[in-house]
Amino acid sequence: MIVHFYRQLKSLILAMTFVVTTYKTGTCGNGMDLFEETTFLDCSFSDYCQRSYVRENVRKYCSEENLTYIERCCFNKTSMANVLVGLDLSNCTLMNVSDLFKNTTNLVILDLEDNPLLNYTKADFLGLTHLEYLYLPENKTCPGGEAAWSSSGTECSGQLNPCNYLNVSCTENGQCHHLGPGIAKCGCLPGHYGYKCLRQGTFPTLTYCLAICIPTVLFSAFFWFTQRRHVKTD
Ligand SMILES: *[C@@H]1O[C@H](CO)[C@@H](O)[C@H](O)[C@H]1NC(C)=O
Ligand SMILES: *[C@@H]1O[C@H](CO)[C@@H](O)[C@H](O)[C@H]1NC(C)=O
Ligand SMILES: *[C@@H]1O[C@H](CO)[C@@H](O)[C@H](O)[C@H]1NC(C)=O
Ligand SMILES: *[C@@H]1O[C@H](CO)[C@@H](O)[C@H](O)[C@H]1NC(C)=O
Ligand SMILES: *[C@@H]1O[C@H](CO)[C@@H](O)[C@H](O)[C@H]1NC(C)=O
Ligand SMILES: *[C@@H]1O[C@H](CO)[C@@H](O)[C@H](O)[C@H]1NC(C)=O
Ligand SMILES: *[C@@H]1O[C@H](CO)[C@@H](O)[C@H](O)[C@H]1NC(C)=O
Ligand SMILES: *[C@@H]1O[C@H](CO)[C@@H](O)[C@H](O)[C@H]1NC(C)=O
Repeated sequence: MIVHFYRQLKSLILAMTFVVTTYKTGTCGNGMDLFEETTFLDCSFSDYCQRSYVRENVRKYCSEENLTYIERCCFNKTSMANVLVGLDLSNCTLMNVSDLFKNTTNLVILDLEDNPLLNYTKADFLGLTHLEYLYLPENKTCPGGEAAWSSSGTECSGQLNPCNYLNVSCTENGQCHHLGPGIAKCGCLPGHYGYKCLRQGTFPTLTYCLAICIPTVLFSAFFWFTQRRHVKTD
């Protein structure tokens, strides 16, 4: 009985040691490199593309800038994070790119060539304000139109700020924000809010809370107590 218990304990300790060691060394003792590459530099976008054929634009940019190229992604490895700055989605049989670039607002270079059925609007590129080089399928126009880029064609390069070239004028207390290729929006300057940014001060969180949150909490507490009393007396 005691021997049996001892054996169980020994295998348990062995198992725990194995788990701890594996955890420490990354992937089962194969070293940190594999762990880093697969865990932190995963090019999830290559899932959209089964074909291995890629253009050279992104790879070339990546190596010229001394960045890290993996599969179809180019990462800028900084001390804070691995920032995706380049993406090659050429020859991926893409038909649309809606929601594809929601989390990639640091993209500088993007290749969409050889996707002849691709259909897009400038809204699909919302947030990509850093985009400087965009390669498109044949006969497609630059998102936001030619005016949104300093050079256009199958290669759209040098994204321009629509606040400037559209001569956007916001209200007195407003400020124009560049949100993407050919996309701009008026926002309020700090210290102003509301319709046409006409109201002054920050949003009155404290007053709002005193007026709404506290009564809500009090009411909830009141009903909770009364309901509980009913439960007890029943
Ligand atoms: C796309 O990739 C396939 C191989 O997967 C290749 O046969 C084809 O030529 C490529 N398309 C273009 C336009 O290069
Ligand atoms: C990349 O590295 C090479 C060699 O270390 C250097 O000559 C070059 O200036 C670097 N390029 C950039 C853009 O930092
Ligand atoms: C990479 O990130 C560093 C730190 O944020 C930045 O200074 C540098 O300009 C970035 N390089 C590229 C090519 O984006
Ligand atoms: C976008 O394209 C994918 C295939 O690439 C397709 O499954 C999906 O239905 C398309 N979505 C829209 C809104 O067209
Ligand atoms: C973007 O990030 C959110 C939250 O991290 C995630 O839920 C979503 O799937 C991501 N979208 C894409 C297209 O990767
Ligand atoms: C592209 O999408 C628009 C609207 O989403 C649609 O009207 C148009 O027919 C589409 N074009 C192609 C070639 O699929
Ligand atoms: C692009 O346009 C040219 C001229 O209009 C046409 O000859 C060619 O077939 C088009 N290519 C594609 C892929 O639609
Ligand atoms: C820009 O807008 C201002 C004020 O509305 C106007 O005076 C100026 O002529 C405009 N400039 C251009 C280039 O449209």
